[in-house]
Amino acid sequence: MSQLAIIGGTGLTALDGLTIDEKRTVTTPYGMPSSELLFGNFHGKSVVFLPRHGRGHTVAPHKINYRANISALHQVGVEKIIAVAAVGGIQVDLPPGALAVPDQIIDYTYGREQSFYSDNFSPDKHIDFTYPYDEALRQALLKAAIALNITVHDGGTYGATQGPRLETAAEITRMAQDGCAMVGMTGMPEAYLARELNISYASCALMVNWAAGLSDKLITMAEIEQTLAGGMKQVKQVLARLIQMQ
Ligand code: HPA
Repeated sequence: MSQLAIIGGTGLTALDGLTIDEKRTVTTPYGMPSSELLFGNFHGKSVVFLPRHGRGHTVAPHKINYRANISALHQVGVEKIIAVAAVGGIQVDLPPGALAVPDQIIDYTYGREQSFYSDNFSPDKHIDFTYPYDEALRQALLKAAIALNITVHDGGTYGATQGPRLETAAEITRMAQDGCAMVGMTGMPEAYLARELNISYASCALMVNWAAGLSDKLITMAEIEQTLAGGMKQVKQVLARLIQMQ
């Protein structure tokens, strides 16, 4: 079985159920990843876990060293990544608490290091990204959720914003017009960097709030945390089932 990694986001900085065998500090030509890599056993299978925002959630989305994170996972032989993401729901059928496995991305971020080849570019490094997520891994996530009777939305466009601020209502109106189903701050360049290194990558997205302007309330961390607690339980169940099915 090829080595699988889970990148945990907001609400998933620790993966309970993961028996940690080793914490490994990995250095990369791009600097240090968000934390040590945690090697362990999750429901009987070996996994590598990396908390995207660091172990104490101290790294802001626009400050994450995405290249170091993906490079470190590549160095230790990871061939598949499941990225867990807490996002805002834009599409009407994606309310807080809904789970989705997105199938497209629009990147609104700026100033982030987008490529491993920035300083040694050549024409063959314009890499196909038509379908940003790995379809087999997407299907595996969907299958795991269905096996558990957990409702999951198949597809949708993930709009990646710069953060750390949340969006304005007008920005969300524009993103909805662009076709975004959900909005998060960390999906890019993470997905593309995985593609550059030929690592299969899919995302399990949990809606934790209605995106800005889509409900009659302002977005509060209290609302997000409440949804996160219940939602991440489901995400962990899906991950466990997916890993057992690998
Ligand atoms: N916008 C951007 N990122 C997010 C949101 C949001 O509304 N909710 C959780 N992550």
